[in-house]
Formats: sequence, C-alpha cells, structure tokens
Amino acid sequence: TTRLGLVFAMAEEQQGLAEHLQDVQIHHIGKREYRSGTLWGVACVCVLSGIGKVAAASTVTSLIQHFGVTEIVLSGVAGAADASLRVGDIVIADELIQHDMNAFPIFPKFEIPRSGKSRFATSAQLSQQLTQAAQIFIAQQMNQHISAAARAQFGLEQVQIVAGLIASGDQFIQDLQVLAGLKQELPDLLAVEMEGAAIAQVCDDFEIPYAIMRTISDEANEHAHLDFKQFIHEVAAQYSLGILREFCAD
Ligand code: ADE
Repeated sequence: TTRLGLVFAMAEEQQGLAEHLQDVQIHHIGKREYRSGTLWGVACVCVLSGIGKVAAASTVTSLIQHFGVTEIVLSGVAGAADASLRVGDIVIADELIQHDMNAFPIFPKFEIPRSGKSRFATSAQLSQQLTQAAQIFIAQQMNQHISAAARAQFGLEQVQIVAGLIASGDQFIQDLQVLAGLKQELPDLLAVEMEGAAIAQVCDDFEIPYAIMRTISDEANEHAHLDFKQFIHEVAAQYSLGILREFCAD
C-alpha cells in the first residue's frame, strides 16, 4: 500500500498543510519533525527538510529507512533558468542534475561517482499525476485560493505547466552570468533550486519512485532574493496545498 513521503524545504512552502493532516503522530529524528497521518485520504509522512542538498538527502533517507515510504514528492519554489518561464509557472522535473558536482577529470563533470549518471529520471507516473493535479489547480482552484490582488501583483494570469530538467546545488542563484554559464552547459535547463537532485540521488539508490514539483518564484537574477521572499510569503503555499490536494484526491 502507498505511503507518501512529502518533503518541503521551507515552512513557507507548506504553510497550512498541518491543518489537513489527520490522525497525526509526531516523530523526531535527526533534528527533523516528521508528521505521519492521513492527508486528503492518503497515508503520508510530511517533513520540513531544511534548505540544501545534505539536509534534503538525510531527510529523505529517514523517510525511506525509518518510515518505509513507498514514494516521495517534493513541492516548493525554484528560480527560472529559461526565458520562456515566468513567476508562477510550474515546472515538474523529468530529470534532475547536481550542477555543483564536478569531480573532473576523475569523472565527467556533473556525474555522481558510483551511480554512473549525471541526470536522474523522476517517476513518469507520479509526475503525470502531479501534472494533472496542477492543471486542475490552475483551471479550477487558483482563483479561489489566491487573491485577485496577489494574482495581479505576481502576474499569475497565464500560468503554464512544463516538464523538463531541473538543476540543484548548494547555491541561491541571483546572477544572470552564473545562470548563463549553467545554460551553456545544460541548454535544456528549466529551473534551479537546492534540493531536488539530492532527493533524486537517494531515491535512485533505494529505488523509490519520486517526483519534484517547483513553482517559479524568481528569475535567478539580481532581484531574485526579493522576488523569492515575496513569492514564498504570499503564494507558494497556496500552490503546494492546492496541487497536493488534487494529487491526493486522484
Ligand atoms: N529557489 C528559488 N529560487 C532560487 C534561486 N534563484 N536559486 C536557487 N534556489 C532557488
């Protein structure tokens, strides 16, 4: 039977979720609080991993080893790494890469030694379910959960959902030159964040299906930290909750 592990890097990305979790049991492991229970009918364990690859990797390892989750989903925000993307657009990873992994010339740049790969593929099935949930959220729920003022402020009228490559690294990217360097090496890159590819590596080791969903909060440029702060405070959780509700209902 399904036991879903739900990971968020920051409290702002899951604000309000706790109210929907029923039959809650709280467990503390490794300075993390794991909340197990039933979320919209689905058995689940929710956790705040904290920011960065190590925090995400150790948290996901506990989800798998201690809680026996059968699948893992992360919901959060990311910086845009493609000119076609705007704040509020949704990126569902089909592959993830650690952009700060480089053991060249011992291993090819980006390759994770021992795994033999640099790109990790997400679960097509979970990603498809998230895509459908996001479509329903945008078409039916978004206007109820996000105020007209916030939609106007962030320009959320023409939200798109795209699938593709997400890169993770222990770095908040706020420099178009840094971003251009990444794009040169990874032309198909859509978004940058700080946890997804770490979760991918651990799930690959344990052969656990996983999916990573990110809403664009900023354009990884010099305004990124301000755009990011506003977005996570005002709308990030509405996306997470709205989409996960549809995902669980599915
Ligand atoms: N998460 C959200 N925006 C980001 C950025 N610009 N860089 C890294 N992680 C992010």
